[in-house]
Amino acid sequence: MADDRLLDHVYDGIQEYDNPCPRWWYLVLWATVLFSPLYFLFFHVGSSGWTLSQSYDQEVADNLNLRFAEIGELTADEPTLLKYMHEPDWLAIGTGVYSTHCKSCHAADGSGLVGPNLTDDVYKNVRSLADIAKIVEDGAAGGSMPAWRNRLHPNEIVLVSAYVAGLRGKNLPGPRGAEGKAAPPWPKGKPDGVDLQ
Ligand code: HEC
Repeated sequence: MADDRLLDHVYDGIQEYDNPCPRWWYLVLWATVLFSPLYFLFFHVGSSGWTLSQSYDQEVADNLNLRFAEIGELTADEPTLLKYMHEPDWLAIGTGVYSTHCKSCHAADGSGLVGPNLTDDVYKNVRSLADIAKIVEDGAAGGSMPAWRNRLHPNEIVLVSAYVAGLRGKNLPGPRGAEGKAAPPWPKGKPDGVDLQ
């Protein structure tokens, strides 16, 4: 081409033309470079409620409230735990909470890792169904078992506790062996007299 310009260096006898990128290409490049700090400041630092993690948290909270609108806020007492141990649709939420937050320490099947085996009849801190929810809320052993009161919705605490209560009786062998004392059996069936067992 007429405006091809040879650069003045030579490598091993090879010379090259100076072929710069077209002007529109540089314009797009510089436009994205200028845009990126504005984007970063707006979505990751600045305007409250607009950062990705805040809007994610908000969405999660809205979604939970939507799902829980039907049952309201549950109390973590024995009749409630017993009831939800037999409600598979709601229990699925407890299963989800367990695999997100608990399996790293109690193993996916509940047989224990850092934390005790939850599938046998012996417990360190638990004597009744309500104790499970209490331990989940408050934690134990100076935080080795974390407190979930401020990290989970109260209904999530009830539902994950109901799920954990249901792991009892599987009696899976765990790496830690038996820890604690045998707890009295959970009461049977639904509190309204419909015995599902
Ligand atoms: C960082 C590790 C860790 C995580 C995560 C964890 N736990 Fe634990 N958990 C422990 C330890 C350790 C203990 C034993 C505490 C003790 O020695 O008294 C424990 C104890 C318990 C107990 C009482 C068991 C007993 O024998 O008395 C229950 C119930 C329990 N955890 C449920 C849960 C649930 C439900 C979750 C998820 C929401 C969870 N844990 C998440 C480490 C953990």
